[in-house]
Amino acid sequence: MSLLTLPQYLVEQGRRHADITPDLRLLIETVASACTSISHKVSKGALADVLGSLETENVQGEVQKKLDVMANDILLAANEWGGALRAMASEEMDTFHAIPAAYPQGDYLLLFDPLDGSSNIDVNVSIGTIFSVLKTPESHRNNPVSEADFMQPGALQVAAGYVIYGPQTTLVLTLGQGVVAFTLDKDTGAWVLTREGITIPEDTAEFSINMSNMRHWEAPVRRYIDECLAGTTGSLGKNYNMRWIASMVADVHRILTRGGIFMYPRDQRESSRQGKLRLMYEANPMSFLIEQAGGMAVDGERRILDIEPTGLHQRVGVILGSKNEVQRVHGYHLDSPKR
Ligand code: AHG
Ligand code: MN
Ligand code: MN
Repeated sequence: MSLLTLPQYLVEQGRRHADITPDLRLLIETVASACTSISHKVSKGALADVLGSLETENVQGEVQKKLDVMANDILLAANEWGGALRAMASEEMDTFHAIPAAYPQGDYLLLFDPLDGSSNIDVNVSIGTIFSVLKTPESHRNNPVSEADFMQPGALQVAAGYVIYGPQTTLVLTLGQGVVAFTLDKDTGAWVLTREGITIPEDTAEFSINMSNMRHWEAPVRRYIDECLAGTTGSLGKNYNMRWIASMVADVHRILTRGGIFMYPRDQRESSRQGKLRLMYEANPMSFLIEQAGGMAVDGERRILDIEPTGLHQRVGVILGSKNEVQRVHGYHLDSPKR
């Protein structure tokens, strides 16, 4: 096992790729160290009074858990001072957070889902933090910060990753040069490189979807899941296994480890016509990781990373994972009459 730590890995990458700047390295290290603090809180649970809900709702109308807000505050405070960032945006904030005038301003933009899988916090199941890094377009740099700075397709992300707080705490990262993973050594506080060149098997017989929504799905998704359920007696000719953790981070982590297809499709309910997951800080960073690992990510018809965003909290259907399986579901969407 390599003993390279996160800062060493970043320095090495910086030597090879000019776009991995000192500012970007600092920013990634700062996100990782904020996640170290979140990880400590997560593991303490009731001992640190982090379980349960608050009385507040976020901009999406979801009741905030204590840990949603704590994780958001930790990430904001850690990332404000370093000088690499121009602004941050988060699931838990209505609008973006500009870097206060007291600190130097950089060109990067950081977006995050501070705590993903909130419904799993109180039941002691894996949860995570997802993040995405963009660069302010040249033409915006002399203007005051605005939401327009963030409105870039996911293909322009310069880095993305997540931290999973599970039996181990693991950071999975891409800087656009493949996917690597670091395990947090809780004794020394170091993030140690434990997986390199992560790739997703192209084929799979494992799917991940919230089956309770079946009656609301559109025809292409229903068709695919019907075929999976038919097993060897159906047209796919093999038996499928199902896993659903209800933390996207944990479901994606499994896919980056042994393959699979994850779906949170848009459906016919008024509330989920656009999907449930958020494009900017859930779907885009995960799609970047998945593509960098040789997988595929679509909303049905479109490559997720090509979608031109129109709002910080916009939702999108998500179908990602093992290439051949995602390709099949994508094909079913293209064959299906326009909705
Ligand atoms: P969040 O906790 O950040 O709101 O995200 C939860 C997401 C995602 O992690 C998961 O895949 C999905 O919501 C689970 O939703 P359901 O419980 O509605 O299936
Ligand atoms: Mn989430
Ligand atoms: Mn969240």
